[in-house]
Amino acid sequence: MYSSICGGITTDPAMMVIPMDDHMVHRGHGVFDTAAIMDGYVYELDQHVARILRSASMAKINPPFDHEGIKQVLIHTVSASKCRQGSLRYWLSAGPGDFQLSPSSCHRSALYAVVIQDSTPLARNGVKVITSTVPIKPPEFATTKSVNYLPNVLSKMEAEENGAFASIWLDNEGYIAEGPNMNVAFVTKENELLMPAFDKILSGCTAKRVLTLAEGLVRARRLMEL
Ligand SMILES: Cc1ncc(COP(=O)(O)O)c(C=O)c1O
Repeated sequence: MYSSICGGITTDPAMMVIPMDDHMVHRGHGVFDTAAIMDGYVYELDQHVARILRSASMAKINPPFDHEGIKQVLIHTVSASKCRQGSLRYWLSAGPGDFQLSPSSCHRSALYAVVIQDSTPLARNGVKVITSTVPIKPPEFATTKSVNYLPNVLSKMEAEENGAFASIWLDNEGYIAEGPNMNVAFVTKENELLMPAFDKILSGCTAKRVLTLAEGLVRARRLMEL
């Protein structure tokens, strides 16, 4: 775990504390991101750091470090954890202040990070999903990965209450949008890959990676057909 407020990495959970007057804690003024750890490597870390910095900018949070600085802290935190399979979750917060709505007394923005060990296998046989009745976030908030995940939590709970894995949001025109912590894509019978545009939903690093890999497959297929 890492806290820029404490100024270092700790492997003792009791030492990892967030001040109650942190604007992220009492007003939800924080953003976060999660990257997978596979075989000891952080997957697509640059993309994830770029996304948290975009979210921070939307939330008007001035980060304590730049892209490279955040990346270095995260790599050192994963290294100290010795975790080989799991995820890295990290937050940028407006930081400690005076419990007011305005962050004007929050003079020190914060970076926090946690490594979460997890070797749960992927669901290769598919999962059941339902349509969410929880209202979708407006585009400005859906495209920002802020800590305000109450709709996402309620959507996941709705799925579990109905024996499903996830609830999928529809946008205001009734088109498929996204799940509470995942993007949605379809492969049609004609072998077309269809994915909602990222203008009203979170621009998912996994979805973007799928698009990149799919482009490679299409190119390879065309070469074979030549
Ligand atoms: C609302 C939402 N959509 C999509 C995603 C998928 O994003 P990624 O593939 O970058 O993990 C997430 C990730 O947690 C999410 O919270």
